[in-house]
Amino acid sequence: MLSEVLSALDVREGQTVIDATFGRGGHARALAAQVGRRGRVLALDRDPAAIQAAADLALPQLEVVHARFSALGEIADTRRVSGEVAGIVMDLGVSSPQFDEAQRGFSFINDGPLDMRMDPTVGETAAEWLARAPVEELVEVFRRYGEERFARRIARAIVVARESGPLERTLALAQIIVRAHPRWERDRHPATRVFQAIRIHVNDELGELEQALTHLETVLTVGGRAAVISFHSLEDRIVKNAFRGKVEDPAMRKLPLRGAPHRAALRPLGRLIRPSAEEVMQNPRARSARLRVAERVG
Ligand SMILES: C[S@@+](CC[C@H](N)C(=O)[O-])C[C@H]1O[C@@H](n2cnc3c(N)ncnc32)[C@H](O)[C@@H]1O
Repeated sequence: MLSEVLSALDVREGQTVIDATFGRGGHARALAAQVGRRGRVLALDRDPAAIQAAADLALPQLEVVHARFSALGEIADTRRVSGEVAGIVMDLGVSSPQFDEAQRGFSFINDGPLDMRMDPTVGETAAEWLARAPVEELVEVFRRYGEERFARRIARAIVVARESGPLERTLALAQIIVRAHPRWERDRHPATRVFQAIRIHVNDELGELEQALTHLETVLTVGGRAAVISFHSLEDRIVKNAFRGKVEDPAMRKLPLRGAPHRAALRPLGRLIRPSAEEVMQNPRARSARLRVAERVG
């Protein structure tokens, strides 16, 4: 959705923009061309492999930082660009290299270690979490983040399997899920939902997103725009609410500030944008992408 993002952000030469999810730099490169040498692109990614890939890009206007986007406010502050940023793009989820490289542990098709951390230098791996989580926690995560109807059955099957030895490989987990899953969906591998749920949990993806969105209104300049591409309904709901001023405070996760006084510094711009049929044909992974855009109004 590169062209949709560029036309939504509508950045000009000399402006400062942020790409909060650098990946392999598709958005950052295009934005760097738009702002030119007098402009500035600050890009973040939590994955050290993305930062390493960025080393090949010799663009004087581009700075790539190894950081989580929940720290967006702090990073903008230390670079003295808070309140001056004309555009922010967030392209959520995993990158193709993360998904395709079996060693990263995201794939239920190619065997790899059960890792799933976007930043393999910190935090608990999927294997470590699956080894220690009580059955109720497994059920909760599979239900909430995977919307998996058979969460309990699958969680129980995992608990039984781990009694006979640690679960360390993606294909071993996929096979347990395949055996436990009583009703397979058409065109969807039975492990899809549980793998998504584990990934979201291990990387605290929704907490990261909620926190990043709270920084938009201070980092953007008045009239500056944010474009967020999400890949499932849980993310999209958080983005939609934040753009309408209904911010969920991560510190009080259970208490959404619905209807509570909140400076409505962002307003949604236009409607939800979906990828073109042509883009979905070229890249089937784009089929569930949803783009929302907001503008800082005050
Ligand atoms: C879909 S890819 C982005 C692709 C990128 N737009 C491009 O053109 O190459 C998502 C990227 O966001 C990164 N990411 C996900 N969550 C993050 C977070 N909380 N903080 C920083 N980076 C994150 C991932 O590591 C991944 O590289």
